[in-house]
Amino acid sequence: MNLPNNPPVNPPVNPPGSPPVLIQVCASADLTDGGKGARFALRTRSGQASGFVVRYQGVVRGWLNQCAHVPMELDWQEGVFFDDSGLYLICATHGAMYEPDSGRCAGGPCRGGRLWPIAVIEQQGSIYWQPDDKLLAPAESEPAAPG
Ligand code: FES
Repeated sequence: MNLPNNPPVNPPVNPPGSPPVLIQVCASADLTDGGKGARFALRTRSGQASGFVVRYQGVVRGWLNQCAHVPMELDWQEGVFFDDSGLYLICATHGAMYEPDSGRCAGGPCRGGRLWPIAVIEQQGSIYWQPDDKLLAPAESEPAAPG
């Protein structure tokens, strides 16, 4: 994947003056705090990838579904991103742990790495993600208008 080594601390924002493109991921009710998340397809400049949304301390967070130490998806069982405590996101393969709100490595082989943030919004009972210049909508997807 052709993303820079250092993920941005905050999700990128839509350039001023351009209309936001929002793609629906799931219903708000599908995410429980510290529980199962929802995956969605996206593209990077180098190919297909996936992102995911989870709810943590009441707030929906979006991340590229790729470990910071090896470019593998985090969830072995689809949608299972939290560890048993519900406090950390975990790579099911090698055990890297990430803070759900900042994406920073909290232990394991991701040492000093971070998850790549994805801009997400929750409104009117649904959760949407916002593509940008690095994380692109999947080719077959049509952007959905909120509401
Ligand atoms: S690929 Fe990095 S901990 Fe699993």
